[in-house]
Amino acid sequence: MDEFERRSRSTPSGPVPGAPRRAESLFPPFPKGRFDVIYADPPWDYKGQLQHNGAGNRDTGGAQRHYPTVTLDDLENLDVMSISADDSLLFMWSSSPHLDQAIHLGKAWGFDWATVAFVWNKMKVNPGYYTMSQCELCLVFKRGKIPNPRGARNVKQYLEAERERHSAKPDEARQRIEEMFPGQKKIELFARVSVKGWKAWGLESNG
Ligand SMILES: C[S@@+](CC[C@H](N)C(=O)[O-])C[C@H]1O[C@@H](n2cnc3c(N)ncnc32)[C@H](O)[C@@H]1O
Repeated sequence: MDEFERRSRSTPSGPVPGAPRRAESLFPPFPKGRFDVIYADPPWDYKGQLQHNGAGNRDTGGAQRHYPTVTLDDLENLDVMSISADDSLLFMWSSSPHLDQAIHLGKAWGFDWATVAFVWNKMKVNPGYYTMSQCELCLVFKRGKIPNPRGARNVKQYLEAERERHSAKPDEARQRIEEMFPGQKKIELFARVSVKGWKAWGLESNG
């Protein structure tokens, strides 16, 4: 087992301690159908660590205070392939410390790594162990070919938007994906809001 495997699998922790680690009991059922665009913001496991702890271990609030987090092992068991069209894209948010896990997860879900779709500048710095953190990345993975027909081809990667509630991603990212793929069937995984034109799936929004 290499360092990545050891780090990502060492602390089993799911939303229900001691519950059987089966995808059917951990996740709500997926809606029927296959989607061309899958937009996901997984509840990454911080292994008990609070996010953004910097010098002096100042507690600025961790994900687990806001929603249950899910281990990489359990996320891998989510059958995203079953709702993905043969030609589809997966857009996935990753915090910087989770980048290696995010690339691993996209591949485990049956996609090929493509590139960084969006770099979000949160317009505010947070303390970090190395540099002050300010940006979050939305990665893109591909299965088969890029869905057709395509919309806008001049959508920018760099996005500036003020941070809002904990973990909320800017609406602008979703809107840019809509511009790129206006006619495609789209689903948001681990969603907290339902938006016109998108199926929403997650513990906090389903429909
Ligand atoms: C990082 S947040 C998503 C934030 C969202 N993108 C936004 O902009 O507000 C992760 C979400 O995954 C949900 N979640 C946690 N465990 C889950 C599970 N087992 N199945 C489905 N959703 C889960 C959480 O409740 C939370 O809403």
